[in-house]
Amino acid sequence: MDTKNYKSYNDTIMERFSCRSFLPQKITQNELQEVLKAGILAPIAVNFQPERIIVVENEALLEKMKEATRFTFDAKTILVVCYDKNVSWHRKSDGKDHGDIDATIVATQMMLEATTLGLGTCFVCSFKEEILRNILDIPENYGVTCMLPIGYPKEVLPHGPRIDIEDIVIYK
Ligand SMILES: Cc1cc2nc3c(=O)[nH]c(=O)nc-3n(C[C@H](O)[C@H](O)[C@H](O)COP(=O)(O)O)c2cc1C
Repeated sequence: MDTKNYKSYNDTIMERFSCRSFLPQKITQNELQEVLKAGILAPIAVNFQPERIIVVENEALLEKMKEATRFTFDAKTILVVCYDKNVSWHRKSDGKDHGDIDATIVATQMMLEATTLGLGTCFVCSFKEEILRNILDIPENYGVTCMLPIGYPKEVLPHGPRIDIEDIVIYK
C-alpha cells in the first residue's frame, strides 16, 4: 500500500514513524510528563493498571544499556515499558496474562502523544532481557514489554510501507 497517498483523518497516526536517529538535546521534563500522562490514559484490562514505566535519563545507565541492545539510537531519554504480573489481569478461563497487551497500548499512546509534540520514538523489543533487567534492577515480577527511545528526530521520515489492506483484513 502506498501510505504516502493514504489519507487518515488522524494526522498523528500518519506522522508517527519509527525514529532511529535523534538530535543530541534531551526532551524537556514538560514533554516527558505529557507523554507519560498520555500513556496512563490507555485502555487497560479491568483497569488494573499494571503498567510500570522506567524513565532512564542517567547518562551512565543509558551508556550501559548498550550492552543489552544496539537499538538505543543514542537517545537521551529511554522509557522502558513494563507491567507488574502481580497486578495485571489474568483471564479466568485460561489464566492468560494481559499485562503485555496493556503495556503495549500504553506505549502506543505515548508514541502518538510524542508525535503530536514533534518528538520521535521507536518501539524496541530487540534487547537481551536479562542484561537489561540487571542494569535497571527490574523486579522479577515485572514483565518487560518494550523500550521506547525518545527525542527530537534528526530527520522526519515516512513510516514504513504496508501491504495491501485486502491482504490483512478478513471479512466473514
Ligand atoms: C513488537 C515490535 C518490536 C519492534 N522492535 C524493534 C527493534 O528492536 N528495533 C527497531 O529498530 N525497531 C523495532 N520495531 C519497529 C518496527 O521495525 C517498525 O514499527 C516497522 O518497521 C514499521 O515502521 P514504522 O513504525 O515506521 O511504521 C518494533 C516494532 C514492534 C511493534
